[in-house]
Amino acid sequence: MNYKFPKDFWWGSASSATQMEGAYNIDGKNQNIWDYWYEIAPEKFHNKIGPHDTSDFYYKYEEYIALMKELGHNSFRFSISWSRLINEDQSVNEKAVEFYNNVIDTLIKNEIEPFINLFHFDMPMYLQNIGGWENREVVILYQKFAKTCFDIFGDRVKKWFTHNEPIVPVECGYLGEYHYPAVVDFKRAVQVGYHIMLSSSLAIKEYKKSNQDGQIGIIINLTPSYPRSNSKEDLDASNIADLILNRSFLDPSVLGEFPGKLIEFVKEQNLLPIYKSEDLEIIKHNTVDLLGVNYYQPRRIKAKESEIKDGDPLTAESFFDFYDMPGKKINPHRGWEIYEKGIYDLSINIRDNYKNIPFYISENGMGVEGEERFKVDGKIEDDYRIEFISEHLKWVHKAIEEGCNLRGYHLWTFMDNWSWLNSYKNRYGFVEIDLNNNYKRTPKKSAYWFKDLIKNNGF
Ligand code: BG6
Repeated sequence: MNYKFPKDFWWGSASSATQMEGAYNIDGKNQNIWDYWYEIAPEKFHNKIGPHDTSDFYYKYEEYIALMKELGHNSFRFSISWSRLINEDQSVNEKAVEFYNNVIDTLIKNEIEPFINLFHFDMPMYLQNIGGWENREVVILYQKFAKTCFDIFGDRVKKWFTHNEPIVPVECGYLGEYHYPAVVDFKRAVQVGYHIMLSSSLAIKEYKKSNQDGQIGIIINLTPSYPRSNSKEDLDASNIADLILNRSFLDPSVLGEFPGKLIEFVKEQNLLPIYKSEDLEIIKHNTVDLLGVNYYQPRRIKAKESEIKDGDPLTAESFFDFYDMPGKKINPHRGWEIYEKGIYDLSINIRDNYKNIPFYISENGMGVEGEERFKVDGKIEDDYRIEFISEHLKWVHKAIEEGCNLRGYHLWTFMDNWSWLNSYKNRYGFVEIDLNNNYKRTPKKSAYWFKDLIKNNGF
């Protein structure tokens, strides 16, 4: 079978500032929540490796981009670090401007299109200290940061994203303990989510006002929600999970309004955030041109069976249980389910229920621990990753054939990078990084396989 992709399909990879730049306190960069958390609680991070020197992209970007070129990529997504670009007194850090200008220009010179994301989990610490996304003032400062980015880099950058996985700071920082401030408080979580959504719309508003000729969107991690059975209870539980975890950002971003059922739910639970009436107009009139979709795994849901004990805090999971479906395929390293058809199902959902908006797969990938054991003659033979990508791409191809407006595929990630609390535990890259040897880079087998795929625009 031959899988051919449309002309000008975007092939490449995705990354984020904190996970690859390093130089965490160099040239005027401020502390972000990760730098701070690592300072006060290094034991939380796998092998106690923090975000200090992650992949050293700040110094080695030219070599990394040269390798991307050699491997045939035509696009690359990275993020701008808010705490690097904007000084605490809100002036612009010229050293950071120089760095990002150099990265953008080097990419363009190598015919790799820069896709820029403005927020990838990395709240500046001085803003977290005044409440982070809980504080409306921070939303306004983010809007200014976004405008600064458009003003400085928008002449060359034509694909912008306001946030990566906006539900994650909510879920992991305010409903779980994986991101700072690591509290469990549903009311605060809803306020955070609401402000992130509003900030996205305000950034889009700024972009439209600037009259630049690019596109702006948001990157959402979609986790298709599959009920255990068709019983009313399982279906209801699955719908609630979908509303909270997918539609809370997908609907307002694309359709301009929160789902009515989500509003009902939030009201019933007494979780309504503080808002201004004009906000809903801002959200309504500033929807995305383009959507990035990160897809790793679905969620299997069943009606709530586990007991809620007195004193247990309310969380999203107070309303459903995860269903451990027998026989599901699992990536044993990360523990995540592998369900390739999910990428097709979410694409059809976007085609049918979200205006068939242009979108691309902005992340998909497989984290593996201890990849060195697959080394043959110095190169990691990651056939499992080739299979993972190709099995997903078959479904991407089918979705396109059936009319989905799907424009590209980016792997998470280009080179093995630092990943939050997991640090360097699971490796996702096309390119191996040797931490003990000045970040020596060796492309894995999948990198060459992907190069061929790009050359043929198919496989
Ligand atoms: C995505 C994030 O959710 O998953 C990335 O956008 C992250 O920042 C990636 O690194 C892989 O997740 P993890 O936790 O396995 O490293």
